[in-house]
Amino acid sequence: MVGVGSGGSLLVLVITAFCFFSSLVAFEVTYDNRAIKIDGERKIILSGSIHYPRSTPEMWPSLIKKSKDGGLNAIETYVFWSSHEPQRRQYDFSGNLDLIRFLRNIQEQGLYAILRLGPFVCAEWNFGGLPVWLGNMPGVRFRTQNDVYTNEMKNFTTLIVDMIKRENLLASQGGPIILTQIENEYGLVSSSYGDEAKSYVNWSISLAKSFNVSVPWVMCQEWDAPEVLDTCNGWYCDQFYPKNPDAPKVWTENWTGWFNEWGGANPLRTAEDLAFAVARFFQYGGTLNNYYMYHGGTNFGRTAGGPYIATTYDYNSPLDEYGNPNQPKWGHLKQLHLVLQSIEKILTYGEVRNINYGNMMSATIYDLNGKRACFFGNANETNDRTITFEGKKYHVPAWSVSVLPDCQAEVYNTARVNTQTSVMVKHSRDSDEAPLKWTWRREYLEFLKGHPSNKRSEYFRDATSATQLMEQKLVTNDSSDYLWYMTSVDIDGNDPVWGKEEVTLQVRTEGHILHVFVNGRHMGSHRAKIRSYRFVFERSVKLQHGKNTIALLSATVGLPNAGAYYETIKQGIVGPVMLIGTNNQAKDLSTNKWVYKVGLHGEAAELFRDDAPGHHNWLSENLPINRSFVWYKTTFKSPSGQDPVVLDLLGLGKGAAWVNGHHIGRYWPSYLAPEDGCSSTCDYRGKYNPNKCLSNCGKSSQRWYHVPRSFLRDEGNSLVLFEEFGGNPTLASVQTVTVGKACGNAYEGNTLELLCQGGRVISEVKFASFGDPKGNCESFETGSCESPNSLSVVENLLVLHRFIMLIYKCKWQACVGKESCSIDVSEETFGPSGCHGSIKRLAVEAIC
Ligand code: GAL
Repeated sequence: MVGVGSGGSLLVLVITAFCFFSSLVAFEVTYDNRAIKIDGERKIILSGSIHYPRSTPEMWPSLIKKSKDGGLNAIETYVFWSSHEPQRRQYDFSGNLDLIRFLRNIQEQGLYAILRLGPFVCAEWNFGGLPVWLGNMPGVRFRTQNDVYTNEMKNFTTLIVDMIKRENLLASQGGPIILTQIENEYGLVSSSYGDEAKSYVNWSISLAKSFNVSVPWVMCQEWDAPEVLDTCNGWYCDQFYPKNPDAPKVWTENWTGWFNEWGGANPLRTAEDLAFAVARFFQYGGTLNNYYMYHGGTNFGRTAGGPYIATTYDYNSPLDEYGNPNQPKWGHLKQLHLVLQSIEKILTYGEVRNINYGNMMSATIYDLNGKRACFFGNANETNDRTITFEGKKYHVPAWSVSVLPDCQAEVYNTARVNTQTSVMVKHSRDSDEAPLKWTWRREYLEFLKGHPSNKRSEYFRDATSATQLMEQKLVTNDSSDYLWYMTSVDIDGNDPVWGKEEVTLQVRTEGHILHVFVNGRHMGSHRAKIRSYRFVFERSVKLQHGKNTIALLSATVGLPNAGAYYETIKQGIVGPVMLIGTNNQAKDLSTNKWVYKVGLHGEAAELFRDDAPGHHNWLSENLPINRSFVWYKTTFKSPSGQDPVVLDLLGLGKGAAWVNGHHIGRYWPSYLAPEDGCSSTCDYRGKYNPNKCLSNCGKSSQRWYHVPRSFLRDEGNSLVLFEEFGGNPTLASVQTVTVGKACGNAYEGNTLELLCQGGRVISEVKFASFGDPKGNCESFETGSCESPNSLSVVENLLVLHRFIMLIYKCKWQACVGKESCSIDVSEETFGPSGCHGSIKRLAVEAIC
């Protein structure tokens, strides 16, 4: 109740109401051949992809804030159908699936939103974001003019659009959504669908239009749909021009790096190259750039696509998996964004003129009634260039773009990074803590010994059978990675072929992992190699006279998420399954009676839940090490501070991990990246591809696993692992991620900002040189000239500097003992360097 006398409350109410209604002011979104227009005004849109299920609601506000601080004015996301409708007509919008809350967070921070409905999304998401139950519906064919498919697609997209409208989230309702996308990169597969492709595209467009969202629709990488915006995806889009001459040049996916795979190395796309691609896109008339991903995040649970997409979806994005700025990428792009926004009007309304200097060197001049902005682009991979423009000389390094907001002074060059490089480190738990104490249980496998149709255990209540080998998804509906295929074989001791006892068992599977048991004994396991998932398992086995039980456990590691007809790719044991006896006589077991049991016993018993029944059955003695099919459990204290928390699982094999019942994803640290393919140096020049600048060769594809802080309580956190291959849990530990070193690299005329994290301060400056230092972070060397004061200025101000600072109240300060500091890179700060000619720079390596 608001009392008349409570003036304060009334004021608050009025202000709140004002804010509420002002955020509900509708605006119009249109476009012309130059840009997206908001209420008739052309805009530069700098957007970043953040997929809400790849982080947590607790992380969203800070991720969005860091995006805004990084100079973005929009956030893009797909909508993840398979997660929202895990079973047909049963919906989930809870927790990190709360799409509305995510969009509200974007709106609250004053950013635009781009909503890509798909519902096919690709995105390295399990099954491309389409539900597996849909793939199992009789007669379905994905992404084509097929009634089963289109009915479901219509049902889901209508549901989402209705929700959005109900919540007033469209621009036309005063909400943040300025663009919507239907389908995803259909042009890449359309030729495989023949004539139906065209009618499906038309149908998709008419469906989209029927939603009346009053904002433009996008179909990225679809070149035959003039009624919607066709847009570009890739590492470079400067040479892309939409087919429709009345449409602007829009880049829906600027790949900021690449995704991690089990068995792969770590991708790195340099800040210089990414900035080059963006600046070139704007040089050549682009006005909307969306970073895919700006924050990649984590494939929690079983959401990773595949096969073999890793749990981390870091993507080498400007914000790392845990939400920390990935420096220098984040900062280097931020500076570019500020410059671009400062010339928004000139870029979107100015007249354009190009000068070709030859050899991949060009200048683009935007002129708006005499107000000019220039881009000098050098796309030559090896040669720096000095050009003369209007009587003045400009040096443009190879593979770089300079931006001159007034066509006179260069304020930004994509190859000159003036931002800190952060070297991230992992810290083990607080020193006063005892090592983790593990308890364990074996996965229940007793049933393997009996006859498979003898469903003695409760666990077999829902087993099914068929006289054929069944495709895995069809049986599991993807409710688990695991499916047991069990059969029995009668061996007659008098048979000349089969009486020998020693025979070869041959199993052909489409992947991805196979464990073989005969009469309860583990005969071996095999995993597919990355990118060749089909294999034949062959082992000599001993059979007994009479009944023998053959049990095959097949495990998938992420379902395919891309390509035409990907839903028809078979998973699991498709056969044949053969026994090969003497004289190569074979018994084909494929049409035997097979009993199917979906999932592990431990999954059914929910061993990962704190309140799981039978929790007292965990053993503390004789901890098994390097044994397959073991469940491990421990408890741990939350690490102090606010730094992100990770599990270091080096030493474990493969499996899945849960913290306080939250499935943090599959783990597979025993799968190493190939020994070769990495290089110690990385040249930003030349076109990026995912094999360039790889790191981590010969090491675990993924060693650390993110545990969002919101999954934790102060004390008594439970960690449960299911270990499938065998590993050593005593080597696992809980760690935090923070900035270990802040390296600075800034050119004269700029300000170098150094920043530690989590309240830590700079304890030491290991290197500082103002002059022409060489090398990179952690390997800097003094060049041919430097200011002798370099180190002491950065470490601690000289008396003279302190005095000057006092008089002029300068903002720069010394670094040691500070969480952050900023240094003007100039001779005034450091004194004469003795360098002549070249642009001087400051290199610093500071320890946090
Ligand atoms: C694109 C696709 C995205 C994502 C990306 C690779 O082709 O549209 O969803 O899969 O490739 O990361």
